[in-house]
Amino acid sequence: MAVIAVTKERRAGETRVAATPETVKKLSAAGFSVIVEAGAGEAASYPDADYAAAGATIAKTARDAVGKADILFKVRGPEAEEIKALKSGALVAATLNPYQDRATLDALAKQGATAFAMEFVPRITRAQVMDVLSSQANLAGYRAVIEGAEAYGRAMPMMMTAAGTVAPAKVFVMGVGVAGLQAIATARRLGAVVTATDVRPATKEQVESLGAKFIAVEDEEFANAQTAGGYAKEMSKEYQAKQAALTSSHIAKQDIVITTALIPGRPAPRLITAEQVASMKPGSIIVDLAVEQGGNTEGAKAGETVVTTNGVKILGFTNLPGRIAADSSALYARNLVAFSELFKNKEGAFAPDLEDEILKASLVTHGGAVVHPSLQA
Ligand code: NAI
Repeated sequence: MAVIAVTKERRAGETRVAATPETVKKLSAAGFSVIVEAGAGEAASYPDADYAAAGATIAKTARDAVGKADILFKVRGPEAEEIKALKSGALVAATLNPYQDRATLDALAKQGATAFAMEFVPRITRAQVMDVLSSQANLAGYRAVIEGAEAYGRAMPMMMTAAGTVAPAKVFVMGVGVAGLQAIATARRLGAVVTATDVRPATKEQVESLGAKFIAVEDEEFANAQTAGGYAKEMSKEYQAKQAALTSSHIAKQDIVITTALIPGRPAPRLITAEQVASMKPGSIIVDLAVEQGGNTEGAKAGETVVTTNGVKILGFTNLPGRIAADSSALYARNLVAFSELFKNKEGAFAPDLEDEILKASLVTHGGAVVHPSLQA
């Protein structure tokens, strides 16, 4: 049966890994053999010995692992040395960041790889179990609250003590997709008073069902802000102005603001201006999850914590799932186990059907070329 290689992540700061001992067992039971590069799971707390006990072969180097493989599993795009070791026609499954990292796609195409961008897996029911955007965004939303709470110099829950009462933190979540919903749930569990906003009307009920208060400009544009695909549209200047007017006085009173707003294929919407940041109390925290797409907050910097002159900290983590690497790897690796089922035919033999709806939607390179329709010049 086909051989799957899992190598160490080589991109700066990446701590996750594309298989865990648990998924090695599952992949073996499904008929694959798995080769894991020595140390691949180390940063996510999965030692080589556990992979070996689960049935994996441990390879000394990435080249050893990849050279024998029919399939390469990665979290991020493979590096040049790994790509060069790929057999022509080998499959690659990774989050390839296809719109921003063309060089990796070109190198994969040149090597003759059949590569799948996990970000392009369609959000249809059958593919939910393979949805890496959701599995990682969920943990990012959780971790954002933990980071915010850590940076905040006060407590999250209300506490009644002999020395007096500690007030609960006020947390405002802007953008209530997968990450935002988990952020609301986490902040609520920690005892914060939580409010949230989004432009998609469907989120109102979701916010309220988590025990948070929904705040939004609910006009006609809002009623039509959700696309057929379930995503947000870019809102008009007029709407943005109304939204800013509504949120301004609210933001000034918040202790922790978590922003997660994204619009597919567009820069992140600007939801917090420098003036709004300046209106916040010293010690307040903003965690901007959209920082890599340009940020929801004016002044947020990718990979940095910015401290403003009025003492507000803007946290700009670029890889929050990587800060909870054991769990994010576990979920990502399970997403890949489900995805690898598509590589088999009805008889269980290794024979990926590139016409399958999910494989077709996520296929980015094949037969020496970059083939995805959205990536054509
Ligand atoms: P996302 O990461 O694209 O965006 C995050 C949130 O920001 C969204 O809720 C969006 O409406 C919001 N947003 C955009 N512009 C905004 C603005 N100007 N102000 C305030 N908020 C703004 O979204 P994500 O997390 O990928 O989820 C998008 C949709 O996909 C949701 O409806 C979700 O329920 C759905 N979904 C469906 C799945 C499936 O059917 N398999 C799996 C996961 C999500």
